[in-house]
Amino acid sequence: MSSSSRIGILGAGRAGTAFARAAARAGIDVQIASTRTPSQMRYHLMQYAPQARAVQAENIAEGVDLVLLAVPQEDLDDVEPEWLAHRIVVDATNRWENEPLPLWFEEGLASGLSSSEVIAQRFPDSQVVKALNHISHWAMDAPVTEEARAAIVAADDVSVAEPVAALVRSLGFEPVIAESLAAGRHTEPGTPYFNVPATAEQLSRELL
Ligand SMILES: NC(=O)c1ccc[n+]([C@@H]2O[C@H](COP(=O)([O-])OP(=O)(O)OC[C@H]3O[C@@H](n4cnc5c(N)ncnc54)[C@H](OP(=O)(O)O)[C@@H]3O)[C@@H](O)[C@H]2O)c1
Repeated sequence: MSSSSRIGILGAGRAGTAFARAAARAGIDVQIASTRTPSQMRYHLMQYAPQARAVQAENIAEGVDLVLLAVPQEDLDDVEPEWLAHRIVVDATNRWENEPLPLWFEEGLASGLSSSEVIAQRFPDSQVVKALNHISHWAMDAPVTEEARAAIVAADDVSVAEPVAALVRSLGFEPVIAESLAAGRHTEPGTPYFNVPATAEQLSRELL
């Protein structure tokens, strides 16, 4: 995938629309979906992501290689794995405090997996990469500074990490590739650089 093509974003709330605005600034076409129909999303998108094109959730992966997942973890029961099959899925989700999770999610975490590993099990025909979860929607809209803020790209397969790293860079961040999906746990809520800016060197050290 070229980072300047088109992406899908599943979830059109604070995170999803912030990703869409950042992508639009980078010249990337965005199709976006939520639980609502495209016509129900019209006014919302006019306000928050005017350049994004609304599609039905089940069509989010049509014509794109990569879908950003920005749906609360508690709602992932309603995301059908086949919608995202054979695509790179960028898991930008986090668990918020006592957010209730689907049983499969609770069981996966209890078995010792990171949240992205649980998501990868749930979406077995997708290539899951953890990225963008530790950057708040406010920071997405912040002006790019001289030293770009570091952002994790955690994947088991480096060939899948690379296009995601290119996307992260287009959005204005310095990608730091972690060579396992499990390493994404270093940027989950409660970790030092969750919602806290880091340089690439600081974040790389945290991943060791
Ligand atoms: N907020 C941030 O700064 C931020 C930054 C990075 C990562 N994240 C993570 O991103 C995730 C979303 O956070 P948020 O703050 O954007 O939440 P939010 O503002 O509540 O938005 C959630 C979005 O997900 C959609 N959604 C829910 N169930 C869905 C389904 N089955 N199919 C398609 N869309 C569905 C909702 O649809 P409707 O609009 O139709 O209700 C809504 O657009 C969380 O895991 C969060 O930790 C958030």
